[in-house]
Amino acid sequence: MSKIKRIAVFTSGGDAPGMNAAIRSVVRSATFHDLHVFGIMQGYHGLIEGSIKRLERKDVGNIIQRGGTILKTARSKEFMFPEGRQKAYESVQAFELDGLVAIGGNGTYAGAHKFGEEFGIPMIGIPGTIDNDIYGTDFTIGFDTAINTSIEAVDRIRDTADSHNRLFFIEVMGRHSGYIALYTGIGSGAGTIFLPETESNFQQLIDLLKKEGRRKKLFNLVIVAEGNKNGDAMELAEKVKKEIKDIDTRVAIIGHLQRGGSPTANDRVLASRLGHSAVEGLLEGKSGCAVGIKNNVIEFTPLEDAISKPNPLNKDLIKMAEILAM
Ligand code: F6P
Repeated sequence: MSKIKRIAVFTSGGDAPGMNAAIRSVVRSATFHDLHVFGIMQGYHGLIEGSIKRLERKDVGNIIQRGGTILKTARSKEFMFPEGRQKAYESVQAFELDGLVAIGGNGTYAGAHKFGEEFGIPMIGIPGTIDNDIYGTDFTIGFDTAINTSIEAVDRIRDTADSHNRLFFIEVMGRHSGYIALYTGIGSGAGTIFLPETESNFQQLIDLLKKEGRRKKLFNLVIVAEGNKNGDAMELAEKVKKEIKDIDTRVAIIGHLQRGGSPTANDRVLASRLGHSAVEGLLEGKSGCAVGIKNNVIEFTPLEDAISKPNPLNKDLIKMAEILAM
């Protein structure tokens, strides 16, 4: 018999489409096992404030298709300090919680790891971020929706770019990670992709554009990750304009559009599987770990590893993107 009787779930950090599907899965899997489930509002902030409410099966009806998170989210500064975590622990005691499910990205995992270690509370992380930058899982909840949104946007931009013979610099999200940029670039057939992980060669772009110009073949889409080291989309467009005077450039920043919207089928199924496994994991006595999916199989990774190891981009994909754009 498991000692786990009362659990709580929360979302933290940047929201991601599919978080609601994960909340629904946690609540319904837990009630199936006769657990009492609670929802913590606004992540660690709500845990500190005691903003916690009971969630029943019916409370998570009609949310699987909704973007955002019904539990709201926040990035709590207070939780980074021992006093904040002490207050959070008092809420855990007041609600007699036996385990917590934290849905979010790296920052959320770091908080969960620290809190679990300090107070001995079973913590399970679920990867919810559009960035796909978490070790221990092939995909994070929200990534698939985000790239579908950005690819649809780039397709639309391609129409107008092509009609005017313009070169568009399109910025996608990812402060530290190029996953969204790489997949958007491949999926939209972009000419070049600028990633935070690689030493992007600006001169290479200039040479390519000059060559393309001579061949009279239009090259009109450049995808830039938000965290690109040698300039954002606006800066790159200006630099190109200085080098090639007769080029007509424009910039589009997709931004937070990528964070919203109804989750794709893949994100709904992934979120459902991860939420369900998180509850099963807690009941089996798992603690201090994150649930993920690798080669279509559910796997658990220690939170310590999940927060300290990178989830690097596949070099073969980067090479392939370059070949396909030639
Ligand atoms: O981590 C998710 C993410 O959307 C990043 O891609 C982006 O850099 C960041 O969050 C934006 O954060 P905020 O919504 O706080 O501006």
